[in-house]
Amino acid sequence: MNSKSTTWAEVDAQGRLVLPPEVTSRYGLKPGARVRIDEDTNVVRLHWPATHLAKVYVEPTNRCNIACRICVRNTWDVELGQMSEATFARILAGLEAISPPPTVFFGGLGEPLAHPRTIEMVARVKALGTTAELITNGTLLSEERSRRLIEAGLDVLWVSMDGATPESYADVRLGAALPEVLENLAGFRRARPPAHRPRPEIGIAFVAMKRNIADLPQVIAIGRRLGATRFSVTNILPYSAEMCDEVLYERTLSDITYLPSPWLPRLSLPKMEINAVTREAFFRALRSGCNVTFAGDNLGGANDVCTFIESGSMAVGWDGSVSPCPPLLYTHVSYLHGRKRVSRRHVIGNVGERDLIDLWNDPDYVAYRERVQGFAFAVCTFCGGCDLSEANEADCLGNTFPACGGCLWAQGVIQCP
Ligand SMILES: C[S@@+](CC[C@H](N)C(=O)[O-])C[C@H]1O[C@@H](n2cnc3c(N)ncnc32)[C@H](O)[C@@H]1O
Ligand code: SF4
Ligand code: SF4
Ligand code: SF4
Repeated sequence: MNSKSTTWAEVDAQGRLVLPPEVTSRYGLKPGARVRIDEDTNVVRLHWPATHLAKVYVEPTNRCNIACRICVRNTWDVELGQMSEATFARILAGLEAISPPPTVFFGGLGEPLAHPRTIEMVARVKALGTTAELITNGTLLSEERSRRLIEAGLDVLWVSMDGATPESYADVRLGAALPEVLENLAGFRRARPPAHRPRPEIGIAFVAMKRNIADLPQVIAIGRRLGATRFSVTNILPYSAEMCDEVLYERTLSDITYLPSPWLPRLSLPKMEINAVTREAFFRALRSGCNVTFAGDNLGGANDVCTFIESGSMAVGWDGSVSPCPPLLYTHVSYLHGRKRVSRRHVIGNVGERDLIDLWNDPDYVAYRERVQGFAFAVCTFCGGCDLSEANEADCLGNTFPACGGCLWAQGVIQCP
């Protein structure tokens, strides 16, 4: 669930906490499931069990019609291709066998709408009763494709927008033009049937960098004019040395504190106006070196939490390869503290050879998910870096491949919609 909701659990006569049946079913809490528990001030967080497959990232293709400055596609060396009917049919059969069926997110490391049959794939997963989302660069969102996506029953359309003016947008999204994407999005919006809460929802995804962060408020304003109801901002993960100069989280990495952090003073801030009077004091308090809570929420709450594992996700590449997360679908280079880090791909198997649920239940994969949920990896994002952090092969605590301690996705620095 994306939004917060309140339900109640009761303690039975044996002192066991009993959750409502709709909650146990939604989170796949079957007998024997193990659930990570984090305690915070006044709050206990239950994490999803590592046994419940709730979301599948499907990559229709790793090809793309444009060449963004930020994209891993500029620096990788992999085979390009698109998903075959046979591979997709295997995924569909796998989804059909799971109750409730997992959410399907069409994305991956290419442009989903560059595959001629992606919209048909959306319609077919929707026929199973799933939630379906799709992320696109928006350049191929013609009137016809918009109409077909809406008819297919898509729930959320995410469009990437990394600039608010034609110049700043084209400076990141090389080969695309903002006016054309905005026109496509306006057409998509017009094609939706009128409703108080029109479907599909529109989301805007923004990659924040030094060169474009000033555009963010205007991107949000443009999105709101176009009916967007969701916005997702991520930092840039530098895939090239040149992109290291663009990061907005140099000090943030060394400020990442591991909770509970008994060695840091605690600072509790209330909600307040952020305006000309308060702004400087507020931001200096945030940077005071304390462990900060803001109106009860811990600002470091995303530390050591892999959103892919936590949300019960798996990723399926165009060729049917299954990985625990989209970043692990491909061997690639990124930069941590300005040092090269090679992430070797971690593939569990292929849907062409094994059923989706059989892959999900693979004992090594289950053990890996439990390891990531426990997150007993070395603190490479916090530490300055060493020879070991130049790859995901091992870390100084004795963890072996894939060692996730240097992964910025697990520290709330890089995120997906
Ligand atoms: C790889 S793209 C695939 C979908 C589609 N082609 C698009 O651009 O929206 C998925 C998301 O990753 C973002 N992205 C690309 N390169 C990134 C980077 N270096 N760091 C963080 N996000 C990045 C894109 O802007 C997009 O929102
Ligand atoms: S549109 Fe998406 S996949 Fe294509 S180059 Fe840009 S970020 Fe990469
Ligand atoms: S492996 Fe250990 S020493 Fe090396 S960067 Fe990670 S935490 Fe630091
Ligand atoms: S921590 Fe990073 S590499 Fe490890 S599973 Fe999560 S996203 Fe993938």
